[in-house]
Amino acid sequence: MPKPIYLLNGPNLNLLGTREPEVYGHLTLEAIENDCQQLAAELNVSLVFRQSNSEGELIDWIQEASNQGSGLIINAAALTHTSIGLLDAILASKLPCIEVHLSNIYRREEFRHPSYISKGATGVICGFGSKSYLLAIKALKDQIGEDQKNEVG
Ligand code: DQA
Repeated sequence: MPKPIYLLNGPNLNLLGTREPEVYGHLTLEAIENDCQQLAAELNVSLVFRQSNSEGELIDWIQEASNQGSGLIINAAALTHTSIGLLDAILASKLPCIEVHLSNIYRREEFRHPSYISKGATGVICGFGSKSYLLAIKALKDQIGEDQKNEVG
């Protein structure tokens, strides 16, 4: 059985749909998950999709992904800008990791520009709304394929 991609969502993303729709769009997290699961099925990859408001739970899930997953996509939400703990978990996991954001954090308030977790990310996708997630799934699938080719070769 190929290992799944873990797609983790941080604080307040459970409120998507009603939370600042002019910034984050009108889709609920459930609708975004449905789109992601549909794309994953088309690409023939399995996807574990979760959300938590708690930093510790996200860290536990990154550790779980390290054992049971093939790669990580994370929208760490506000924890992006504060959490060395999440960065350390990502680095320890040794997984390919794509950081995603719905909004373009570089067009927003200055406190949203720095990301602690970028240092652990293979790539960053932001500013495409819920499409950021779909682009990340495609990119990570390619990346995992490349890594496997390099291991064989
Ligand atoms: C976000 C951007 C963060 O700055 C913010 O705290 C979020 C969502 C995004 O997806 O655009 O909660 O990660």
